[in-house]
Parts: sequence; C-alpha cells; structure tokens
Amino acid sequence: MIPSTTSANLTSLSSSSTQNLAGNFLSRRFFFLHDIQILELFLALFVFVSIHSLRQKKRYGLPVWPFLGMLPSLVSGLQGNMYEWLTDVICSQNAPTMRRGNDKGRRQALSSTQRSSGNSPTESLLELVHSGLLPVLENSVNSLVSIDLQDILLRLTFDNVCMIAFGVDPGFLRPGLPEIPFAKAFEDATEATVFRFVTPTCIWKIMRYLDLGTERKLKQSIKGVDEFAEEVIRRRKKELSLLSDKNTQRSDILSIFMGLKNEHGQPYSDKFLRDICVNFILAGRDTSSVALSWFFWLLEQNPRVEEKILAEICRIVGEREEVKRKESPLVFKPEEIKKMDYLHAALSEALRLYPSVPVDHKEVVEDDIFPDGTVVKRGTKVIYAIYAMGRMEAIWGKDCREFKPERWLRDGRFMSESAYKFTAFNGGPRLCLGKDFAYYQMKFAAASIIYRYSVKVAKNHPVVPKLALTMYMKHGLKVNLYKRQELELQKYYSNNNP
Ligand code: HEM
Repeated sequence: MIPSTTSANLTSLSSSSTQNLAGNFLSRRFFFLHDIQILELFLALFVFVSIHSLRQKKRYGLPVWPFLGMLPSLVSGLQGNMYEWLTDVICSQNAPTMRRGNDKGRRQALSSTQRSSGNSPTESLLELVHSGLLPVLENSVNSLVSIDLQDILLRLTFDNVCMIAFGVDPGFLRPGLPEIPFAKAFEDATEATVFRFVTPTCIWKIMRYLDLGTERKLKQSIKGVDEFAEEVIRRRKKELSLLSDKNTQRSDILSIFMGLKNEHGQPYSDKFLRDICVNFILAGRDTSSVALSWFFWLLEQNPRVEEKILAEICRIVGEREEVKRKESPLVFKPEEIKKMDYLHAALSEALRLYPSVPVDHKEVVEDDIFPDGTVVKRGTKVIYAIYAMGRMEAIWGKDCREFKPERWLRDGRFMSESAYKFTAFNGGPRLCLGKDFAYYQMKFAAASIIYRYSVKVAKNHPVVPKLALTMYMKHGLKVNLYKRQELELQKYYSNNNP
C-alpha cells in the first residue's frame, strides 16, 4: 500500500515531472530558437560586414569595418613590419599621389634663435659634439667596447634642443651617460601617448578619469616635465630681475619669448612659455638622432657612399693648410658644413627611406574635398604615410628602394625636392620649423664622426624599426668604432689636390 500522502506526492510528482518535461521542452525550444537567432544574427552581421568591406575595396585606403574602424586591418598589419605592410597596401592600390599647397612662414620668433648672438644653436652643438659626443666615442674605442650609437645620439640632440629651448644643458651626454629625470619623464610621456593613438577614445578617457595604467603614467610624467620647465622659468625670471640691462645676450627660445608681448600687449604667461618650450623640445629632441642612426646603418651597407662623403669632407677642409698639417684637432666651420652637398644628399636619402616621423596625422577642421575627389568631413582624422611615400615607384621611380644620394644632386650640387614629394619634414604651413637646423646638426655630427671613425654595426645585431610615433631602432644601434688612420685621410687629401 502506498500511503495517500505518497500517492498525493506521486500525483504531484507526475504533474511536476510533466511540467518539467514541458518546461524542458519549452526551454530547449527556446534555446534552440535562441541559437538560431544568434546564428542568424552572426550570419547577417557577416554578410553586412563582407558587403561593406567588398564595397570598400573599390576605394583607396584600408577597409573601414563597422564599429571597429580600421582596427582589424591594423592588427593584421602589426604582425610584421607595420610600415612595410602599409607601403604594400598603398602601392598595390595604385593610389593617386596628391601634391598641393604653398608655404607661408610664421616663424619670426623661433627663427631669431638662429640669428641672435649669445650661445646660438650652432655654438651649443659645437660644444656638445667636442666636449660630450667625441670624448664618449673615443672612450669606447680605447676600451674596445661596443656602444649603442642611437642612445648616444639621442642624448646629444636632447641636450642640444634643451639648450635651444631653455638655454640649459640637462647633461644627458655627460661622462657616465647618467639617467636624467627630466629626459626620462619626457620619454615616458611620449611612450604613454602612443597608447592613445591605438586605443578607442572612450577607453583612454575612462582610464584617465580613473587614473589607471598608461594614463596614470602619462599624468605623472607630464608633471615631471612641467615641474622642470616651471623651475627653469622661475630661475630665468629671477636672473632677469637682477640684471640692470634687460637686453639679455641669451638667444634661447624662452628668453626671446620673455622679451616679447602677446596680441594684447601683455607679457606671455608662464604657462604659455612652458608650453612653447616643451613643444619645441618634443619636436626636436629625437628626430635628428633617429635619422642619423638609420644613416649610419645604411652607410655600412654602402661603403661607396661613405668613401664619397669622406672625400668631400677632405676636399673642403683640405683648403685649410693647418688641417692638412694636423696642427690642431679639426673643428668644422659653419661655412664648411654648408658646402657639404654630397653629405646633405646622403642624409636626405636616408630620411626618404627611413623618415623619423613614419606616419603623421591631421584632423579636418572644415569639410573639404581632396584633389582626387575624396570627400573629407570635419573631424575626420587623415593619416599620411611618410614612410610609404618615400618608397613609391610612382613618386621616386623604379630605383625607389635603393639608397642613392646621387638622385638629389645636379652637377654635384644638392637640389631639394618639393615638400609635397619629400614629406619627411611635413609640408604646408606646419612644415618643420627646425628643418635647416636639423640638417646642420646632422651634418655636423655625421662629419665629425665619419672623419674620425669607421662605424661598424656589431655582428648579428638586429636592426628593426620600433612601432612608435618616431622611428627609433627597436634594439638601438650597437656598433664598434675604429679610428681612421692618418694614412687613409692623407690619401683623400692628396686625391683631391693632386
Ligand atoms: C631629421 C630631423 C627632423 C625631422 C624629420 C622633423 C620632422 C618634422 C615633422 C614631420 C613635423 C610636422 C609635425 C606635424 O605638425 O604634424 C615637424 C614639426 C616641427 N619640428 Fe621638426 N623635424 C626634425 C628636426 C627638428 C629639430 C632639430 C627641431 C628643433 C630644433 C624641430 C622643430 C620642429 C617644430 C618646432 C615643429 C612644429 C612646427 C609647427 O607646429 O608648426 N624639428 N618636424
């Protein structure tokens, strides 16, 4: 006998199991339907995205995917050499090249640093090369150790640009190559900024709000940079207030702007002074050194070019009798540097193949139409690939991938190219303000090194670009230096003056 309670239970059991069965059936059906719906949804999305990307193929540039933009294409490009991949994409699409525009100068105050007396940019460069760079290099020769040439050149240009901007030598190139908090803060800030370029805006903004990760690092490093700049401004103001003659002999950007008035006839605010100097350092701190690193690497693979540079240097300085007689250590004169056309061409060729700023971007301020008919709306970001442009057959001809300084020379004289063809220094109203000085700086440093040493890249040292806003060598440039023999230099002197 089964107790009634049990039968009741059984009844309830059977009814609940019926309900369960029905429930299971319904939920399975629901899930089945749910699965189908998800499947359909994915299918629809796939078809939509495929049609979208197929339609995109008809246009130039990378496919722009819904929600994700160019990210999927960029991620696939990041697997190898991003810049080469971008060059292939642009060249394979046979995209038209657009050149247009005209420069208008807006550089009075900044260019006066080159004209003023006092410790001018060329004088501070001379001082840094002869009392900083060359002793460090000589030390490596004597101790037979390899050095990271990129790191040493970065230190040289950092000190140089700080002297131009603030009139202060931070001492990054001092013996022992010290770690400088200001230089470190600058480096950290630029590295953290790269994150913003590859992260959706809402994500980095949330991170900034929550003070997390790279945003936290960025905030701290900007604070370090600003504190240094504010301290220099404070000290300079004090220094000026103690001077009876306010016409200071200083020719750095900070001192020049301190003596100027804004459009309301007022002195510039400390914040403005800080920002103008920091912006200048940011623009000029590592572009020339990175270009020089690629230049020395290319030179090792093209010994013929190195010989021609050496011959040019010896021909120019050989006009000075005391140099041939080796009466004193050779210090190049500015007019000698300016005469070095072949060196100028070789540096331009290095910049064409390895531009220090490999890709640059602009934001559209007003709706516009490009010469090829592409409509660009206000707020759109336009990226232009300087690295790819330097390697396009349509622009530079069939030998575009060869390192050929001769392409820049007519009857032995350097001939510059349009800024819309050779875009390493940008074009239009935002053309690099330091272009002329950058050439002088690179030529002075390169000639000073080449005249004294043969630079050989350490065996098996990997040379690849780093993915950053500036095209650093990812692993630096490990080199060994070999002192040039007097006999070798004499050969060039006598070849030039038979
Ligand atoms: C090989 C060396 C250099 C290269 C390839 C180079 C390249 C460039 C490029 C591409 C820009 C445009 C950035 C933009 O607005 O999108 C630029 C701007 C600028 N560069 Fe250079 N640069 C070099 C050296 C220097 C040096 C040594 C200085 C300073 C001593 C300097 C100062 C500036 C300044 C102040 C700007 C901003 C111009 C403006 O905002 O209108 N550059 N440079």
